[in-house]
Amino acid sequence: MEVIILNTPQEVEELGGKLLTEQIRKKRDSVLGLATGATMHGVYKYLAAQELDFSAVKSFNLDEYYGLGANHPCSYHTYMRQHLFDRVNIQPENTYVPDGLAQDVERHCLDYEQAIEQAGGIDLQLLGLGEDGHIGFNEPSSSLSAGMRIKTLTPMTRRTNQRDFPPGETMPMHVLTLGIGNILAARRCVLLANGAKKAPAVQAMVEGPITAMCPASALQQHRSTTVIIDEAAAAFLQLADYFRCVYEHKPEWQRGK
Ligand code: F6R
Repeated sequence: MEVIILNTPQEVEELGGKLLTEQIRKKRDSVLGLATGATMHGVYKYLAAQELDFSAVKSFNLDEYYGLGANHPCSYHTYMRQHLFDRVNIQPENTYVPDGLAQDVERHCLDYEQAIEQAGGIDLQLLGLGEDGHIGFNEPSSSLSAGMRIKTLTPMTRRTNQRDFPPGETMPMHVLTLGIGNILAARRCVLLANGAKKAPAVQAMVEGPITAMCPASALQQHRSTTVIIDEAAAAFLQLADYFRCVYEHKPEWQRGK
């Protein structure tokens, strides 16, 4: 696991955007695994501002609220259209987001996983981090080899994400999410986290034991994961100085790899 500590959230989001840009420049038909949430705003803003050709890119989002249709203003379909899909030349038929209104959930999850396989697997999986250590919506106690399925959000995640819903509207309790098994199958993972609230989860993910109590800790077993965090999120890392030193001395040719 490579850990990059930067000064500000803006720098974190920009480096995330740069890695995605390099991925698309290197392979124009890249298969991207995408995340939503506040941390990704700056990443998509950066991406949309580049002269990038998305015409052959395929994307698979990690998750969607169960019970929300694609046109619901708080759905992740809407989020993705607003932040990325409507701002670049990606083909709508190449963008996949789980169907929050799927009737046969098991069938839908299997079809979604099959579509990823048919696309050749995910080249780069973008990830945010929950305060409780979730990635995608794999909440604490999730199986570390699970595939896509329906999950129940923890009260902590529901409290945090209630901010995305208008006053009076209660957010859904369930989500469809790719599992840790799907995430670990991606060829590369890039996880971004900012702010003091994420510091305990960052420490558990990077330096704690691999445990379902912090699902993101499963990334310790992934062969190519880059974690990009700001100083506030790095506050509890015992090895912070070592990570800074490694990044500072990283050979130029290795940057972005
Ligand atoms: C959403 C997702 C989640 C978020 C995480 C952090 O698609 O995958 O794991 O990345 O909840 O969200 P923010 O960035 O809002 O703190």
